[in-house]
Amino acid sequence: MLDVKDVVKSYPGPDGARVEVLRVEKFLLGAGQERALRGESGCGKTTFLNLVAGILAADSGSIRIDGTDMAALPESARDRLRAAKLGYIFQTFNLLQGYTVIENVVLGMSFSPLGSDFRHARELLVRVGLGHRLEHFPRQLSTGQQQRVAVARALANRPSLVLADEPTGNLDRRNAREALALIREACKENNTALLLVSHDEEVLGQFGNVEDFSSLNLAMAARQP
Ligand SMILES: Nc1ncnc2c1ncn2[C@@H]1O[C@H](COP(=O)(O)OP(=O)(O)O)[C@@H](O)[C@H]1O
Ligand SMILES: [Mg+2]
Repeated sequence: MLDVKDVVKSYPGPDGARVEVLRVEKFLLGAGQERALRGESGCGKTTFLNLVAGILAADSGSIRIDGTDMAALPESARDRLRAAKLGYIFQTFNLLQGYTVIENVVLGMSFSPLGSDFRHARELLVRVGLGHRLEHFPRQLSTGQQQRVAVARALANRPSLVLADEPTGNLDRRNAREALALIREACKENNTALLLVSHDEEVLGQFGNVEDFSSLNLAMAARQP
């Protein structure tokens, strides 16, 4: 369902010259599969997920999601594809502060073909243990609760792929374990593929098979002394 080929991404450096931060020759993820990637801070994990999500545009290469090349689309079409197919759990949640918990989740599906479905949003929030916080605003919640809203929002459009960027980075151990179990369980149920990146060994330890992001990202491998 995800097929990444020869993707390169560079950013302008301090002197204006472009610095290559990501070079991935090949990365495949089948429908319903889960993959966990381990990587230190700064090694390009968020850049990679943002490229897959179509938030960033690659310099070159192809990123196919169910056959459609994200990298070849203009921004508006990338936005639509993301709304239809992807769920993204951001490291810093990115909840909309002016909207309630349930509105945040409904907004997660309002641009998808499913459209806004308050009943489905409520079901998801009950499932993540927030049935009693539907009308609260994000700042009225604990960090662990905000993370669970972000999880519910990412699942709301019944995505075929969930991207999770250090999804437990802001949580204590117990909340981290619960949030991760919830993400994996929901993905399994819906045959949703899961791509998780993290530097947290406790989180990575829950997965049977963890790959090193640095061996995937040839731009960083080339920079090692
Ligand atoms: N907008 C940007 N402009 C310039 N450099 C950036 C930008 N975003 C990230 N980088 C650089 O790209 C590299 C990878 O960043 P990132 O993908 O955020 O890593 P990670 O998520 O693994 O911590 C870092 O060296 C960072 O400095
Ligand atoms: Mg990051």
